[in-house]
Amino acid sequence: MEVKTVKPSARLQKLFDNLLAQLRQFIRDNQINHDEYRSAVAFLLETAASGELTLLSDVLLEATVDQVDSMGRVGTATSVEGPFYLPDSPMLTSPAVLPHRANEPGEKLFLSGTVKAPDGTPLAGAIIDIWQADAEGNYSHFNVPAADAPFNLRARVSADRSGAYEIQTWLPAAYQIPKDGPTGAILKATGRHPWRPAHVHFRISHPGFSTLTTQLFVAGDPWIDSDVVGAVKQPLIVNFERHTDPAEIKARGLDQPFRTARYDFILPTAEARKAA
Ligand code: DHB
Ligand code: FE
Repeated sequence: MEVKTVKPSARLQKLFDNLLAQLRQFIRDNQINHDEYRSAVAFLLETAASGELTLLSDVLLEATVDQVDSMGRVGTATSVEGPFYLPDSPMLTSPAVLPHRANEPGEKLFLSGTVKAPDGTPLAGAIIDIWQADAEGNYSHFNVPAADAPFNLRARVSADRSGAYEIQTWLPAAYQIPKDGPTGAILKATGRHPWRPAHVHFRISHPGFSTLTTQLFVAGDPWIDSDVVGAVKQPLIVNFERHTDPAEIKARGLDQPFRTARYDFILPTAEARKAA
């Protein structure tokens, strides 16, 4: 078997030595017995067999990796990618409407803003790779069958010549990470709820700049202070303003209340990233 993930290096040796030392100390500190040890291994096997190893790792650990890896970074705050990103989504040009079903549920949402360099220069043609849950808390491909709607509410939108973007989508609902598998079981058994506050994911890129992976969170969401993944950062909480005025609704050509949110994204230069 060709092992692709193990490449000998001094860094790997140092990390592995330290991880083992800490795990062995954990066993001593907690007086772990054979039954508990076998049960922990069986849990990992069950998690891998159910296809949830990425989910479990991202839920428990990715936010901490993000905190460490973004230290000293300038520009917009980062957040975790999570397990539901898909590469190669459709390429659209701003102003864009995300791919959706004929009867896409929920309130329409108009996102807009500008992608900029730290000195304020607009980044013409920046690529805004966006993905989100739908109004029922489901991600396409993972929770909504692709046959129904390939790349539903996912796209790579290029900003215009002034770095501005306008994306029409639908307000996402708060999201429960899958509850019925090993990840849900361990959370439940240890008194943790499975909710993430409503959020929209972004990966924003431009040549010569460091790619920004982040999320915008809907202000006022009931789970905003207790995200199971721990990925909320204050500057990423945004007012997704609800518009109910009939005249405003009509002016947009709509017949129901809608939402708007504005956010300017700032990408660090690739150089700044290296220096950090
Ligand atoms: C995780 C991230 C998400 O954005 C999400 O919707 C679910 C889970 C995660 O990091 O595990
Ligand atoms: Fe998510």
